[in-house]
Amino acid sequence: PTTAIIIVAAGSGTRLGLGVPKAFADIDGRTVLAHALDGVLAARPMHVVLVVPHGHEQTAAADLARIGEERPVTVVVGGSTRQQSVAAGLAALSEDVEVVLVHDAARALTPSAQIDAVAAAVTADTGAIPALAVIDTLKRVDGDAVVEAVDRSVLVAAQTPQGFPRAALEAAYARAAAEGEDHTDDAALFAAAGGAVLRVPGDERAFKITTPADLHRARMLLHPAQG
Ligand code: CTP
Ligand code: MG
Repeated sequence: PTTAIIIVAAGSGTRLGLGVPKAFADIDGRTVLAHALDGVLAARPMHVVLVVPHGHEQTAAADLARIGEERPVTVVVGGSTRQQSVAAGLAALSEDVEVVLVHDAARALTPSAQIDAVAAAVTADTGAIPALAVIDTLKRVDGDAVVEAVDRSVLVAAQTPQGFPRAALEAAYARAAAEGEDHTDDAALFAAAGGAVLRVPGDERAFKITTPADLHRARMLLHPAQG
C-alpha cells in the first residue's frame, strides 16, 4: 500500500528547557530532527509530511535541504497540542495514501527497522504500535499512600511510529475533534473510535527525548567515548 509518515516536530520542548523547539535542539552538531529524518530515510520509501512549529518552516529547511529531490517532503505548521499537529499533517496527505504512520521527531534515534515493522503490521482495519515491556516496579498510589503493586506483565510502554489504515484514522480524528477529546497518543484516539490495534516489538533506541538527561543519553548512544 502507498504509505506516508507524519513526523510531528511542532512541540515547544518545555521539559527540555533549552529555549528552542525540541526538534531543533542540538545532539551532536546535528539536530533532533536531522537524526529522526535519518531513520525515516533509511526505512522503505514513503511519503513524508513534516509538522513544524509556527515560524519554523525555514529552520526545518536546513535539515530538509540534503533530502533534496530524493524524496518529496511536505512541511506544514502544527497546532497547540500534539493531536492538532497530527491533524494538520493528516490534512496534507495526498489522495493516494492508504497507510499512515505517525512518528515523534523527539524519538530521534528510532531504528529504521522499527518504522518498517510497524508499516508492515498495519492491515486494512487494524493499527499497529511498537511497545516495550515495562521494567520498573509499578505501584498504584492514593496521594502519597502506596495502595498496591500493579501487575506489569499486562502493561507495555508505547513508542512511535504508530501506524493505521488512513481512512479509519481520519475518521477517528474527526470523531475526537467532534467530541472535544484530546489524546496524547494516536492508538488511544484510534481505539476510542472502536479501532483495533496490534503491538509489535519496540526498541530501546526509540526512547523519547524529553528531559536534559534524555538528551545526554542520545549523545552517549551516538558517541559513547565522549560521554
Ligand atoms: N508535538 C507536536 N505539536 C505539539 C506538541 C507536541 O508536534 N503541539 C510533537 C513534539 O514535537 C514531539 C512529540 O509531539 O516530537 C511528542 O511530544 P513531547 O515529547 O511532549 O514534545 P514537546 O511537547 O515539544 O515537549 P514538552 O511537552 O516538554 O513541551
Ligand atoms: Mg508535550
